[in-house]
Amino acid sequence: VLNLKNPTQQQGYKMKIILIGASGTIGQAILKKLTNRHEIIPVGHSQGDIRVDIADPKSIENMYNAIGKFDALIATTGKVHFARLHEMTADKYEIGLKNKLMGQVNLVLHGLKNINDHGSFTLTSGILNHEPILSATSSAMVNGALEGFIKAAAIDLPRGIRINLVSPTLLKESVDKIGDKFAGFYPVSADEVAYAYEKSVEGAQTGVVYKVGYA
Ligand SMILES: NC(=O)c1ccc[n+]([C@@H]2O[C@H](COP(=O)([O-])OP(=O)(O)OC[C@H]3O[C@@H](n4cnc5c(N)ncnc54)[C@H](OP(=O)(O)O)[C@@H]3O)[C@@H](O)[C@H]2O)c1
Repeated sequence: VLNLKNPTQQQGYKMKIILIGASGTIGQAILKKLTNRHEIIPVGHSQGDIRVDIADPKSIENMYNAIGKFDALIATTGKVHFARLHEMTADKYEIGLKNKLMGQVNLVLHGLKNINDHGSFTLTSGILNHEPILSATSSAMVNGALEGFIKAAAIDLPRGIRINLVSPTLLKESVDKIGDKFAGFYPVSADEVAYAYEKSVEGAQTGVVYKVGYA
């Protein structure tokens, strides 16, 4: 009898999944999609029983200590500063570097202690390093760095642990707020984006950038 020794790949296995950004647009859609099959631990920033500030490594450590062992972590959060290039400063780039980039990298580094064998990390970037718009140099820089990080981390992670990145285009739900900056970008719904997170968590691939809604 084949013993694959990988419970996360067995049909019907109920994973314990930490969802950072659970109250957000993408987070809500993932929660809806995965909640029947898995135990989801929703983590917020300003609300919820368990909270974290991904820009603060100590806060990340406290969150992991409160949760204990887990099978998968999904991060659907990350702030960057949007401004025209001539208005950008080192401090403004630092926002994206500390929050969206190192925030997600630190979720991986600190999570290694508690993640089960064959578990997975799924991080979030966005389309703007492939299809830049004005005022998005920080976003493009951070997204590109996240792509490099997950590709290299995938071959460096121990114990069969996987890592992927979801890179969505503009969301339908965000069109009213930011759509005017994204002329010609055809938006996708958060529900469609949630499929990529499902593929990352329940599938077997690693080191993959799931591009959702690219032309
Ligand atoms: N929306 C789009 O069109 C789009 C397109 C491509 C990529 N993305 C990327 O996808 C990610 C999520 O986007 P979204 O539109 O779903 O965001 P959103 O609706 O603004 O939600 C953000 C989530 O992140 C949490 N959060 C905020 N600051 C945090 C911090 N310092 N530490 C931990 N959690 C924090 C919020 O928690 P609280 O509610 O508790 O504050 C909320 O749950 C972002 O990285 C964004 O760049 C978005």
